[in-house]
Amino acid sequence: MCGIIGYVGNRPAVPLLLEGLQRLQYRGYDSAGLAVLAENGDLCVEKSVGKLAALASGLRGRWPTSRLGIGHTRWATHGRPSDINAHPHRDCQGRVVVIHNGIVENYLALKERLVDQGHTFVSETDTEVIPHLIEHYLQDGTSLELAVGRAIGQMEGAHAMVVFSVGEPDKLVAARVGNAGGVVVGYGQGEMFVASDLPALLPHTRQVAFLTDGEIAAVTSQSVSYLSVDGAVLAKEAQTVSYDPLSAARGNYKHFMLKEIAEQPEAILDSIRGRARFEPPAVVLEDMAIPKRRLSQIRRVVLVGMGTSLHAAMVGRHYIEQIARIPAVVDNASEFRYRKPLLDADTLVVSVGQSGETVDSLAAMDEARRQGALQITICNVVGSQATRIADGVVYTRCGLEVGVASTKTFTAAIAALYLLACYLAQERGVIEDEEHLRSLIDPLARMPSLVGQVTQGDEEYERLAHRFSRYNNFLYLARGVQFPIAMEGALKLKEVSYIHAEGYPAGEMKHGPIALIDEEMPVVAIALRDELYDKMTSNIEQVKAREGTVIAIASEGDKELAKKLDHIIHLPQASPLLMPILAAIPLQFFAYHIAVRRGFDVDQPRNLAKTVTVE
Ligand code: AGP
Repeated sequence: MCGIIGYVGNRPAVPLLLEGLQRLQYRGYDSAGLAVLAENGDLCVEKSVGKLAALASGLRGRWPTSRLGIGHTRWATHGRPSDINAHPHRDCQGRVVVIHNGIVENYLALKERLVDQGHTFVSETDTEVIPHLIEHYLQDGTSLELAVGRAIGQMEGAHAMVVFSVGEPDKLVAARVGNAGGVVVGYGQGEMFVASDLPALLPHTRQVAFLTDGEIAAVTSQSVSYLSVDGAVLAKEAQTVSYDPLSAARGNYKHFMLKEIAEQPEAILDSIRGRARFEPPAVVLEDMAIPKRRLSQIRRVVLVGMGTSLHAAMVGRHYIEQIARIPAVVDNASEFRYRKPLLDADTLVVSVGQSGETVDSLAAMDEARRQGALQITICNVVGSQATRIADGVVYTRCGLEVGVASTKTFTAAIAALYLLACYLAQERGVIEDEEHLRSLIDPLARMPSLVGQVTQGDEEYERLAHRFSRYNNFLYLARGVQFPIAMEGALKLKEVSYIHAEGYPAGEMKHGPIALIDEEMPVVAIALRDELYDKMTSNIEQVKAREGTVIAIASEGDKELAKKLDHIIHLPQASPLLMPILAAIPLQFFAYHIAVRRGFDVDQPRNLAKTVTVE
């Protein structure tokens, strides 16, 4: 969950590290720290609780010139956020310095052993055992990278880390073990970078190499060598990535979240561009090197994800069943991995995630691989771990998402899942004739403009949000393919406004949640003119009969519902299966405006992180 950056080269390190951390802050933001090697050989470390600004202002004007250093922005696991617990951490002699993402699961046993050997500890963190372990192995005169490998050999859990030592003043050592977040090496001219993910590197280089599980990189300003944790030399090539760093600029928007909500017309367009072919109708998925024969073998689909991505997967289940006609189930990845799922070569596991680094989803993918299942991932981050494990990838292609609360990656993932279902139908011969395929693909063409129309309603959503910003509990109800959108609407409100909200299938309401309904618990009901409309309006009546207040997301022109309700948002009509994309948008705006009204930091909500790399 933490952000990691390292630099070695010919430019002053501190400004580069701070700039990198700025771009990584969305990964964790309860404290931050830097360590650099001064030109006179001194190790200088500065750490500060709170956001990066606190560290940066503490440093102003009093930092030595240096050409090598590391920086970290933290999401606390062991030890509360404090100056002392912030990374980097050092060994006893102050010569080895470490930043780390992950959990040293056996740190108590290691710490006890190290204390017995005479090591002294200052923090409450698990990470602090790492510099002491490395210090121990360096005593033999071994190189830093081999000492890191030997230290890793003692550590349980998953890790991403960067280390340097005063004893080897021109080298950074980076390592990745398991799925505690990525490590990417960036190649510059006479300079090299390492980071937990791409955004920190993109202003400087597009030539990168990703570490996989069990790999170590020894990086100097001129070269990089790769080895396995047990010391074997590895060959690894850099690749060129094509992300546009400018897409991360906030522009005139007050917050990234607002910008990213507003970007959804382009996000949907980018995600279908070139893939949905209209004349003659076809779906082309460019990163799907799975033979037709293998696709025909699929008898069952299991979709997995976490949080917002799980909600997208829940929509995807409807697509896989209704369009591709394959039995499908959906599961929370963290539950899936531990419930001893039964998979085989005829099962397709579809993992959904924006980051491609969520530990629970990666562990589910590892389990799927172990059992020989076929895997496709829906992902936004090029080169992330999920994309390397899967047999096929559908990138959502919607540019960097900086706001911690996912918005555009959610609707783009739904569009990608729709394409995937159409593709499976096409490749497996489920499509009856050209007209059938056309009826599935044509509706996609209108989606970017319909999404644009819905985002134009911002002022109306803001007014509604202001009217409801004082309430402390909300219920979100929907049915069918819209039910996951009710879940997502409630999650968005929780995440950014810190308001208690629950999403329920509307049919479930009278089995318990109805007891909560009174004038203090507004109900957000998605009641579109689809096959479940009558059922939804009955549920709305049940709420009204108990003095409940209803905010409805309704279809354009639904005067009947408008007569019954004071608060109603109308959506233009798209194909019913694509309506979840439209219905999600007013709910994103609603959560955003309530959070802003309440004065919260919408881009970096408390306790959250963009990439969740711990269980
Ligand atoms: C959504 O707003 C959150 N960022 C969170 O629920 C997120 O969707 C979840 O942690 C999964 O992340 P992933 O999409 O990167 O796998």
